Amino acid sequence: MTKKCAIACDHGGYHLKEAIKSRFADIEWLDLGTDSDSSVDYPQYGQKLAAAIENGEAERGIVICGTGIGISIAANRNKAVRAALCTDVTMARLTRQHNDANVLALGARIVGEQVAFDIVETFLNTEFEGGRHARRVEQLG
Ligand code: RB5
Repeated sequence: MTKKCAIACDHGGYHLKEAIKSRFADIEWLDLGTDSDSSVDYPQYGQKLAAAIENGEAERGIVICGTGIGISIAANRNKAVRAALCTDVTMARLTRQHNDANVLALGARIVGEQVAFDIVETFLNTEFEGGRHARRVEQLG
């Protein structure tokens, strides 16, 4: 189980971010904002979270925007990040097992709250399988 996790969102993801923090209260959250549903620009939050992963402030992270797409693109520009946009538990399990994804991206306007909770739980609790997958992850650069 991951103990410390960074989390960031834009205004579209604000309510889901707060709900995830309450639901997983045993995790030490490094909350990088945003802190309200006032409009902000998702690239800044994706980049902030990516920097926290790069600097070793957290091993895993979660980014949330309306679709999960913009903020995952922003986070993935940083080479330290392998962000995976997941809409179900199977994607969350496989991206941990096969891609060693260190950042989960969620679309607050795409998945319901309970589905998001299940995805987070799976993302935080599934280990990388290594082996042939390690070679492929290495090739991502
Ligand atoms: C903001 O309205 C919206 O564009 C953003 O949350 C996200 O969906 C972008 O990919």
